[in-house]
Amino acid sequence: MRTPGRRDSANEANDDMSEISFQRAIAAVDLPEGQMRAVQIGARSILLCRTREGWYALDDICTHAYAKLHEGRLRGNRLICPLHGASYDCRSGAVLGAPAIQPLKTYPVRHVGDDIEVACDRP
Ligand code: FES
Repeated sequence: MRTPGRRDSANEANDDMSEISFQRAIAAVDLPEGQMRAVQIGARSILLCRTREGWYALDDICTHAYAKLHEGRLRGNRLICPLHGASYDCRSGAVLGAPAIQPLKTYPVRHVGDDIEVACDRP
């Protein structure tokens, strides 16, 4: 788990990716553990999930059809679509349950001070 105000080695690796630009997404205190929230970063709607294992950022739209995943449920690391019940692993975007087939795109996340930042490529 990442600690506020500290950069761990995974985050340092992200810092080495000079083409990636991190942007502030949310204050860490505004999203309790076990919850998720959609945030707008540039033109993208990003789903932030906070679990016991850490922070994760993914596309907010289900790959099966058009549904906003932030309207679904987060159970541990399992993200469940509100429309037809597909499920994903929020850590990797991998599909855990049908009817979705394609994984969700994920984005690098880091903790800087009191904030959570996400790196999005240009849409
Ligand atoms: S839109 Fe998400 S499972 Fe169908």
